[in-house]
Amino acid sequence: MTKKRILSGMRPTGKLHIGHYVGALENWIALQNEYESYHLIADYHVLTTDLATDEIYNNTIDMVIDWLATGLDHEKSPFFRQSQIKEHTELFLIFSMLITKARLERNPTLKEQARDLNIENVIYGHLGYPVLQAADILLYKGEAVPVGEDQVPHVEITREIARRFNNQYGNVFPEPEALLTNFARLPGLDGDSKMSKSLGNTILLSDEPDVVNQKLRKAVTDPQKVRKNDPGRPEICLVFTYHKKFNPPDVPEIETNCRSGALGCVECKTRCAAKINQFLEPIIEKRKYYENNIDIVKNILHEGETKAKSVAETTMNEVRQKMKLG
Ligand code: TRP
Repeated sequence: MTKKRILSGMRPTGKLHIGHYVGALENWIALQNEYESYHLIADYHVLTTDLATDEIYNNTIDMVIDWLATGLDHEKSPFFRQSQIKEHTELFLIFSMLITKARLERNPTLKEQARDLNIENVIYGHLGYPVLQAADILLYKGEAVPVGEDQVPHVEITREIARRFNNQYGNVFPEPEALLTNFARLPGLDGDSKMSKSLGNTILLSDEPDVVNQKLRKAVTDPQKVRKNDPGRPEICLVFTYHKKFNPPDVPEIETNCRSGALGCVECKTRCAAKINQFLEPIIEKRKYYENNIDIVKNILHEGETKAKSVAETTMNEVRQKMKLG
């Protein structure tokens, strides 16, 4: 039986945080044996919201180091930048003929992003974000796409484009499914939003123990629990969510003692930081190895791009043939 093919992707925003791990990477790592995976670095997609390109390459390298350090296996699954494989732009152009402007304007992810980032006038490329994503997925004939909730509309648009192409020119593409990541989004250290770089509420996968301790110390907890003995409400506390993820065996005891007031926030946070540090220790160690051997990282990317390129070329030839474009 041939393995099903996965296409997963991330925009290169630099060093990753534990929210990226919980929300995406952990899932990618779990899936890499069961599926044939391709891991795309969406360095063109970055331009939809930020035109500055100076940091994209460094951010890419930082992100690839985190991928490697957490256990994504580049030998099983190529890592590659969409900007290095011209077929992405070519297929993007063809796909942009197969979807209406009105359909793209209905995309809820775009609306949310425009609202969050205060964008009044959406650029053409931003409207076309899901069309480029469809090209990313379908160039590799991805059958499954591991994503969070916010990306489901993009996978839906990809399916529509695949269907439209197949009807118009003949069968080339599968209709990919979204594989929803099961763990909910990890809250940020400020407690009321998800962990996100732009909000500055993250714990990085590269944070050393003293940094993690300090960040945890400042984390927001239940505002009604002012003194140690006050009863707390773990269900609204982000530190409790972190315990659930990084310290499951102690969760029932922490829950009881937080509620009764026997456990104070200071101790609870110290214990949480210790568990997160335990989780990060091997990642930081591997990170250091790659940081000291950047050539290895660049090589991994180069190899991945060579492999991805040959798949992309094959698909593009098929597309041109079906379309009778020479
Ligand atoms: N839009 C995705 C995100 O912001 C990144 C992405 C680009 C992607 N191309 C992709 C994800 C292809 C999956 C498949 O998270």
